Amino acid sequence: MDAIDLIIPIVILLVTLFYRFIYKKTEFSLEKLEGKNVIITGASWGIGAEVAYHCALNKASKIIIAARRTSLLEKVRDKCSHLSNKQSRIKVVTCDLGIEEECVRLVRESLDFFKDSNDDSRIDLLILNHTHSVFERINFSDPTGALEKTRNLTNVNFIGFAALAHHAIPHMSTSSNSSTIIVVTTLLAEISLGMSWAYSATKSAINSYFNCLRDQLSHAKLPIRVTIVHLGAVNTEQWQSNIAKFPKFWFGSSSFIAKDPGETAEVILRSGLRGEKAVWFPWYTIFVSIIYGVVPEIGRLIGRFIEDTLFS
Ligand SMILES: NC(=O)c1ccc[n+]([C@@H]2O[C@H](COP(=O)([O-])OP(=O)(O)OC[C@H]3O[C@@H](n4cnc5c(N)ncnc54)[C@H](OP(=O)(O)O)[C@@H]3O)[C@@H](O)[C@H]2O)c1
Repeated sequence: MDAIDLIIPIVILLVTLFYRFIYKKTEFSLEKLEGKNVIITGASWGIGAEVAYHCALNKASKIIIAARRTSLLEKVRDKCSHLSNKQSRIKVVTCDLGIEEECVRLVRESLDFFKDSNDDSRIDLLILNHTHSVFERINFSDPTGALEKTRNLTNVNFIGFAALAHHAIPHMSTSSNSSTIIVVTTLLAEISLGMSWAYSATKSAINSYFNCLRDQLSHAKLPIRVTIVHLGAVNTEQWQSNIAKFPKFWFGSSSFIAKDPGETAEVILRSGLRGEKAVWFPWYTIFVSIIYGVVPEIGRLIGRFIEDTLFS
């Protein structure tokens, strides 16, 4: 190995660490949410509900919370209303975001709700968070079933995100201040477990798509920012039901490796308001991704171990 092959990665690492922890260290207040019109998808529980609570606590003007289950959304709405001291207006939109027409309806209903006294309507923050996940072995004797699952996840996770962004963009670019699309994604886009085949694939697609979309928006001189938030494990109910399958001696407490959903929601909002292009939370997950890329054999061993422990 030439010396240069060692020097280049070390310099890249040092510059990255300097940029992340010294240059960009400034804290950023969520008070910037005040007066904003926000759409949050997948807000009926988990991380999406926590994002809604932070928007309400920080007095966002109008908040749309969207998912399929009305009863859960209504509970989130009531808590938001309480947290904002009734200063934020919150609307529930029940919709299946795996269907394009429903994505169009969500944007239309949001624009109606966001209308001000001049009949103008603007979307400040579009938070694409909803997800459908499948963790299971592929049944190779049922090709139609495997493709059906792939198509289903693609429609909800990928086409749903793209449809919402494209239908919202014409109503974001009219905003005098720049507006932001926040895309919530996962480390599993980079380190695919075999059993997360379709989920990982849709999340990888999202990452590439929204990175390109950001460039296209900039080329078209539209003042819309795109923030991609890559998450490691988060201690949601979904996560807890998965971790319950781990042997007790392994992690002891599920929160040992999984982050708090409220803290995660704060990071998502702060990154978007700050206009960051990409954020990894917790920050060291990017190194997991790098190790997986550089030494795939180790990544695959760890993946197999997790799969066998979690899902067998
Ligand atoms: N939890 C983690 O450990 C973790 C780790 C990495 C990344 N993430 C990412 O973080 C985001 C939120 O994850 P989470 O753990 O909070 O997920 P979750 O608990 O499974 O919640 C998913 C949300 O999406 C909604 N949803 C699902 N299918 C939908 C559809 N067809 N149409 C509309 N809404 C739909 C669900 O509500 P309804 O069922 O009521 O529709 C729910 O509100 C996701 O993008 C996920 O990939 C999570």
